[in-house]
Amino acid sequence: MDALIRTEKLAKIYTNEDISTVALEHITFSIQEGEFVAIVGPSGSGKSTLMQILGCLDRPTGGKYFFEGKEINNYTDDEFAQIRNEKIGFVFQAFNLLPRLTVLENVALPLMYKGVAPKERIKTAKEMIDLVGLSDRTDYQTSRLSGGQKQRVAIARALVNNPKIIFADEPTGNLDSKSGGVVLGFLQELNDRGHTIVIVTHESYVAEASGRIVHIIDGKIDKDEKVIHRRVVAQEGFRK
Ligand SMILES: Nc1ncnc2c1ncn2[C@@H]1O[C@H](COP(=O)(O)OP(=O)(O)OP(=O)(O)O)[C@@H](O)[C@H]1O
Ligand SMILES: [Mg+2]
Repeated sequence: MDALIRTEKLAKIYTNEDISTVALEHITFSIQEGEFVAIVGPSGSGKSTLMQILGCLDRPTGGKYFFEGKEINNYTDDEFAQIRNEKIGFVFQAFNLLPRLTVLENVALPLMYKGVAPKERIKTAKEMIDLVGLSDRTDYQTSRLSGGQKQRVAIARALVNNPKIIFADEPTGNLDSKSGGVVLGFLQELNDRGHTIVIVTHESYVAEASGRIVHIIDGKIDKDEKVIHRRVVAQEGFRK
């Protein structure tokens, strides 16, 4: 079976005016469906750049990217958007929520982009909000939520499309350890349900809860290791 994600000598050079920065070099690896991968490495090593390319938000400047076995380098922006809308959920740094919209509106947004009818959008979004335990905040503007609550909204929004793969860049970075644990518990639970998870983290307790740790240094893969004894996080708060 084809890997869900495969790269061949992926490279990214940012060029601004006369300065160029090599952010990624020779990234050759693959991710199988159902894996839970943690990407770790020092600040500036290229982790977010890699996530953006894998998430079809940006394009590499060299190498090849295969998604579900198809080389997608030459896809148009619309084709990229279609992959994102149908297959990918994002939980990014600083949450990327729209502060003036309510929890419900934020969570329903990806369904609007996908062209789902309003009634169906509201129903599905409410189910996701319930899943992350925020039913009592459905009509709150997201600017009025705590950090942990915002992060849970971001997770609900990432899941509302039932995406095959979830990319999370430092999803526990702005949280206290208890809220971080809850978010991590969600991600583990989702992985147990068959979603592929790729997460960037600085924290070893987060990486140890994954199934595989990919270390990036200076834009290259330095080490790629399996986690033998995955740390299982308590599932408090995840409603069935
Ligand atoms: N838009 C950009 N233009 C120019 N250089 C960039 C741009 N984005 C990132 N870089 C550079 O590319 C390198 C990798 O950045 P990236 O954001 O991928 O690092 P990171 O590993 O996610 O770091 P952190 O842990 O601090 O989030 C850095 O040297 C950064 O300065
Ligand atoms: Mg980053």
